[in-house]
Amino acid sequence: MLEFLKGKKNHFIGIDFGTSSIKVVEISYQNQKLHLENYGVVDLNWSNHGDEKANMKAASFEQKLNESLKSLLLKMNLSSGMAYVSIPGFSGLITIIELPEMESEELAKAIKFEAHKYIPSSLDEIAMSWEIIEHAEKDAGAALNAGKSSAFGKKIKVLLVAAPKRDIERYDRLVSGSMLDVGAIELETFSIARSLVGDDNGSFFIIDIGSRATNIILVENGVVKVNRNIDAGGNEITNAICDSMNISRQRAEIFKKGDKDFLNTTETSIVIPVLELIVGESLRIMNAYKEKNKDSKITSAMLSGGTATMKGLDQYFSRSLGVDVTIGDPWKKVAVEPAIKPLADDLGCSFAVALGLAMRGVEDYKRG
Ligand SMILES: Nc1ncnc2c1ncn2[C@@H]1O[C@H](COP(=O)(O)OP(=O)(O)OP(=O)(O)O)[C@@H](O)[C@H]1O
Ligand SMILES: [Mg+2]
Repeated sequence: MLEFLKGKKNHFIGIDFGTSSIKVVEISYQNQKLHLENYGVVDLNWSNHGDEKANMKAASFEQKLNESLKSLLLKMNLSSGMAYVSIPGFSGLITIIELPEMESEELAKAIKFEAHKYIPSSLDEIAMSWEIIEHAEKDAGAALNAGKSSAFGKKIKVLLVAAPKRDIERYDRLVSGSMLDVGAIELETFSIARSLVGDDNGSFFIIDIGSRATNIILVENGVVKVNRNIDAGGNEITNAICDSMNISRQRAEIFKKGDKDFLNTTETSIVIPVLELIVGESLRIMNAYKEKNKDSKITSAMLSGGTATMKGLDQYFSRSLGVDVTIGDPWKKVAVEPAIKPLADDLGCSFAVALGLAMRGVEDYKRG
């Protein structure tokens, strides 16, 4: 009975606190398959394109998120269960550091020392986790030249993940206050990688464009290898349309979401600097990766986030990056009832984070 009250054991809820909306999805794991059970989205309706949010005190910002989440969960009739929650990519850090192989105690010290290079604030305020992702033979010649005598002549690559404790505690408070249990809180970068790539082999390049931020992710054989956040996204596209066409923000937003492809035509004078910025950063990451990994190839890229469905955006990136570009499909590994399939397709990749979070629940459950 208690178990029943606490929610079904094989059901998992993903909660994505996006800048423009909160998205929630519930999936179940039955007969070794994922099934969509429930989903919902609530707009946060910030007026004045986010100025209101910027000026809001932290307490009232949290209150707004709290109320919005509660009303959404009520609508979805979700009053219990295990929830997985994301922290925005730009709040955290994901990096790979290379170290000589060493004992685990020494390693913990070395990682903390390295982390200081990336994290300016006190490490007491940061939650960190790391995982060794690669053991490699050290180039013997290089080791000798450097005059080092590493006991094993080997080096390791460590994936270091860090996020402010303050953010983790805030999301924990928000979700616990809504009667759900918190299964885990993770950076949304991992949620996106999970729903769009999973453990598929090969190299994948993902560009997630939300409303406030863009998250560029390179995944290789199921591991996030490179991650870069840009503090600009769909909002800046709307602003650029506003300025170029001299129209209101509301009209620019409608125009942006319309059927007209103004990204791949020479007849338009709309300049969108944020897209050029994303292209420049993507090319830099792709080239640096090619340089370092001679035998790994990136032959395509996937778009994700609410902006991904913008008319002509895939073609624009394909032309600018010189690779095939598709719109990612986070639903591909989830069974969806035929009756709601068109709705799920419509929501498409704006649910990549929420779905990836719920999938984390299934992963943890399978591991036992
Ligand atoms: N058809 C469309 N064409 C162009 N842009 C779109 C379309 N549909 C939604 N968008 C844009 O997608 C953005 C919202 O995407 P998403 O829901 O992924 O953002 P978010 O998660 O709330 O924000 P962030 O990840 O930055 O915190 C908005 O800027 C919205 O204008
Ligand atoms: Mg988002």
